[in-house]
Amino acid sequence: MATDMNFFAEVGGEETFRRLVHRFYEGVADDPVLRPLYPEEDLGPAEERLRMFLTQYWGGPNTYSQQRGHPRLRMRHVPFTIGMKEHDAWLRHMRDSLDELGLSPELEQRLWNYLVMAARSLINQPV
Ligand code: HEM
Repeated sequence: MATDMNFFAEVGGEETFRRLVHRFYEGVADDPVLRPLYPEEDLGPAEERLRMFLTQYWGGPNTYSQQRGHPRLRMRHVPFTIGMKEHDAWLRHMRDSLDELGLSPELEQRLWNYLVMAARSLINQPV
């Protein structure tokens, strides 16, 4: 239901997700709460995984699953401590990045609602 080609096309296709995730990782790179969570020195591969995931989720090519298998996001986040502090920082960078895309309010709201819901579902530490 959430995944449909119309939304993917309306929002601007792969280029939109590329911009969203790129700007987001620029924020992560300088974030004292989030940066230490990322195991790799090079954030490029992590950026690519999130971009592929969001692209697929919203109805674009399913390269994520071809390369990574089933997303199992909750399980994949278990190794990282995600409390309220990490949750808030993650969403703050997403919010900044989303604001810069300049989407229509309706598309923006749909994307944002999903990100808020998904981020909440990945909290794995008592807050
Ligand atoms: C709530 C705050 C969050 C934190 C602190 C967080 C942190 C992380 C970290 C440290 C990684 C490992 C980086 C890597 O090597 O790929 C990761 C991976 C990933 N995250 Fe998050 N994340 C959060 C929320 C989310 C949300 C809301 C989504 C989806 C909408 C998401 C999607 C992903 C994906 C797709 C991967 C790569 C999984 C893989 O294929 O291995 N994350 N996250």
